[in-house]
Amino acid sequence: MSFVFEASIPRVVFGEGALAALPVELERLGARRALILSTPAQQTSAEEVAARIPGQCAGIFCEAVMHVPVEIVAQACHRARELEADCLVAIGGGSSTGLAKGVALETELPSVAIPTTYAGSEMTPIYGLTEAGAKRTGRDQRVLPRTVLYDPALTLSLSAELSATSGMNAIAHAVEALYAKNANPIMSLMAEEGIASLSRALPRVVQDPSDRAARSDCLYGAWLCGVVLGHVGMALHHKLCHTLGGSFNLPHAATHTVILPHAMAYNAPFAREAAQRISRALGQPDRGAAPALYDLAQVLGAPLSLASIGMREEALESAARLAAQTPYANPRPIDEAALYRLLKEAFEGTRPKD
Ligand SMILES: NC(=O)c1ccc[n+]([C@@H]2O[C@H](COP(=O)([O-])OP(=O)(O)OC[C@H]3O[C@@H](n4cnc5c(N)ncnc54)[C@H](O)[C@@H]3O)[C@@H](O)[C@H]2O)c1
Repeated sequence: MSFVFEASIPRVVFGEGALAALPVELERLGARRALILSTPAQQTSAEEVAARIPGQCAGIFCEAVMHVPVEIVAQACHRARELEADCLVAIGGGSSTGLAKGVALETELPSVAIPTTYAGSEMTPIYGLTEAGAKRTGRDQRVLPRTVLYDPALTLSLSAELSATSGMNAIAHAVEALYAKNANPIMSLMAEEGIASLSRALPRVVQDPSDRAARSDCLYGAWLCGVVLGHVGMALHHKLCHTLGGSFNLPHAATHTVILPHAMAYNAPFAREAAQRISRALGQPDRGAAPALYDLAQVLGAPLSLASIGMREEALESAARLAAQTPYANPRPIDEAALYRLLKEAFEGTRPKD
């Protein structure tokens, strides 16, 4: 065995009621004028956060949207400067966190993240920005939040449908971490635990979105999956989802849900140990990892085909070409014709074989 490992994990306050720690956590950062960032849909949550920190809040900016357009980042930076903000507080999913990252990159302000989905962006130094229709991503430690408050109570309002797809999005990080080129034993342990926690709790959340214990287990799993996303390289699955989201405008979490079993089927013969660990973590040690992931999505009532989430069949060929264009590390060599077959199966929503 040989590996290189360097931990870079923000301070985490986890548990029901963790939001109450915000004033103290801001004090720890020496922040007195926080700018709260969120989406238009979560304006009320942003106002509730502001109400908790009356003496430490400079203002609210609730214009975050998917894929972080540079124009919105510029507006938020302007607001931060105008208000003389000394800290950012992002409440919401990957879109709110993503906006805070864009602003942090520009202004170097420290940030606190309060995630309300399972996307995991709050644990990574990875940012994405969209300019003139093209999304570029990068890594920069300045965008990594200083502190993250994980409060499961804030996820109670996440619909069963979004919980299912967001949870599968988190599982996808852990799946690819287990066969990553730069995998390491610590991240692999966290990845297995993340898959196990989410796959046990997600069916309970879908059945009863107000189940607080299940919400807590899901958020714990999402934290683990977010950590591994920030520490090891992703492969084919994330590349395909990035292509489908960026060039064909498919919804982020739902795309991850549909593609994951098929990307796993593509890689499984070249990543046998990882596949076994994934099956075990899913509680299906005797089933292949790919069909076990498909079955989990089915149990959750999540979308199973690209056709059902807005992909056009005529676009599959160009998606395969785009995803095969730039080289990247993956257990199985990237082959455009095989990628097309993968996408065709994902389009139709067929269950991968054991
Ligand atoms: N940089 C990274 O490391 C990283 C990691 C994962 C995802 N991302 C990015 O994050 C984005 C997707 O994030 P997402 O899947 O969290 O979606 P999102 O943040 O876009 O949220 C989806 C919708 O759900 C709403 N919402 C969020 N939490 C809610 C709650 N608890 N109750 C009710 N409504 C709620 C949001 O306001 C939004 O309208 C993508 O742009 C993706 O590229 C980045």
